[in-house]
Amino acid sequence: MKLLILSVEEQPEIERLKEEAKKSGHGVEVKSPEKSTERVLPSFTHVLVRAVKGAGEAAKEIAMKARSLGLRVVDERLATGKGFNKAAIYSILKKNGFSVPETIAFEEKNFPAIRKFQGKEVIIKDVKGKRGQDVFKVNKTELEVFYQRLDKSKKYLAQEFLRIDKELRVLVVGTKVVGGFSKQSSNWKKNIAAGATPVKEQLSVEIKNASVKAASITKTEIAGIDLALVGGKIFVLEVNRAPGFIGFEKATGKNAAKEIIQYVASK
Ligand SMILES: Nc1ncnc2c1ncn2[C@@H]1O[C@H](COP(=O)(O)OP(=O)(O)O)[C@@H](O)[C@H]1O
Ligand SMILES: [Mg+2]
Repeated sequence: MKLLILSVEEQPEIERLKEEAKKSGHGVEVKSPEKSTERVLPSFTHVLVRAVKGAGEAAKEIAMKARSLGLRVVDERLATGKGFNKAAIYSILKKNGFSVPETIAFEEKNFPAIRKFQGKEVIIKDVKGKRGQDVFKVNKTELEVFYQRLDKSKKYLAQEFLRIDKELRVLVVGTKVVGGFSKQSSNWKKNIAAGATPVKEQLSVEIKNASVKAASITKTEIAGIDLALVGGKIFVLEVNRAPGFIGFEKATGKNAAKEIIQYVASK
């Protein structure tokens, strides 16, 4: 295959993907999702869309164009013009019987709706956030004050704060569970990017099945599924479509980059 990786940032993950692609004899280049990138599409056979925060629309257009030219695109969800944000993912998960934290999507005009959570600890997150950078915990007295400080042009989610016993990250590539780890941290926010430590975890059949189902119903071909165990119940916290996997590879000893390259090439 001749693979084009779309990414707005240089990530160690991209280096790993390039390395594994080359090892298997594939051609590989990395470009940022700009309008001009469309012109180079005919010299590739496959496109892998990685980190596109801030350039989601441009990436979607390139993915759609690539698909119309007959290239194989991962993920296909983008290539078919659907770029679900966190709010859309939660509603799909809920409709399919998953436990998810009680959630209200809000922006400036319906802010009063989140007063429903007043009196409780609330999680507020930017629908387009990642790596824990735009996730905040607000206590009952601070809700209105906190809201004043939010960027009113953005969309957010307000969520019940879950008392999580254990948080897991499971990597699903296609329909295969590559592996998983738990996130150890004394902080309530357990992103690896926020300093949590990944610890290898033996995944139960229940966890594996839930992860594969969450990936498939949200049409996420390469999925970093965040699961929260709360009083024995499995909650889905997030389905990431371009998950980081450096910590994953270290913790599990699995070759995530190779799995991803093999999956893309097999399309
Ligand atoms: N409703 C919640 N209750 C408790 N902790 C949460 C909740 N939502 C998120 N968190 C914590 O914050 C982290 C980041 O939230 P997440 O929704 O995954 O956003 P991001 O895309 O920035 O990773 C989670 O991994 C979890 O540790
Ligand atoms: Mg997350």
